[in-house]
Amino acid sequence: MRFARRCRTCGSDRHGKPVLADLPRPPHLSLSYDGQWALAALCEEAEIGVDIEGIAATSWDAFDRVLLADLERPALAGLDGAQLTRARAILLCRKEAILKATGHGFSVEPVEVIVSAPEDSPELREWRSPRRGPAAIRVVDLTLGLSTHVAALAVLTDAPVRAEPG
Ligand SMILES: CC(C)(COP(=O)(O)OP(=O)(O)OC[C@H]1O[C@@H](n2cnc3c(N)ncnc32)[C@H](O)[C@@H]1OP(=O)(O)O)[C@@H](O)C(=O)NCCC(=O)NCCS
Repeated sequence: MRFARRCRTCGSDRHGKPVLADLPRPPHLSLSYDGQWALAALCEEAEIGVDIEGIAATSWDAFDRVLLADLERPALAGLDGAQLTRARAILLCRKEAILKATGHGFSVEPVEVIVSAPEDSPELREWRSPRRGPAAIRVVDLTLGLSTHVAALAVLTDAPVRAEPG
């Protein structure tokens, strides 16, 4: 298979969302990496975004201020240590999966994408960017069976989404 790219922001084919080339009706594709792990997600029906995050990587002090919106921070109040870093990683995964599904990547600030609290069912609660947000989107937390990483995917659809491990 040959991979190509398409940037939603500037139209370039040198960076941006990956696409499968040379197929008549290629499935939508999303990729994510963290350390030794790689995650790929395919969807035939709609645009998809996937993200994997190492839990320990969210332990920096300014995380909440830089990446979370005012509405998201109260859900983390009272958490510390591994509970806090895991909750942060869940939120970041949902945001990045959404931004990969839309193709914006970080050209939209994660702080402008408000997702549900870590213990709540995953969803996009509010889109605050002036760039156009998705008309419909479903978010799914993925079960990786890893204590060190979490992952999420997002699909531009209003139909129920079921993730099938490959
Ligand atoms: C997409 C992005 C959020 C991923 O960041 P990350 O957490 O460091 O990396 P991940 O491992 O989770 O994902 C990397 C993959 O994201 C994919 N990707 C890159 N840009 C993407 C986009 N705009 N939309 C969807 N997926 C994208 C690529 O497949 C990349 O892997 P590859 O280079 O091997 O193909 C970040 O790289 C980004 O925002 N890039 C683009 C910014 C942009 O579009 N700026 C405007 C330029 S005009």
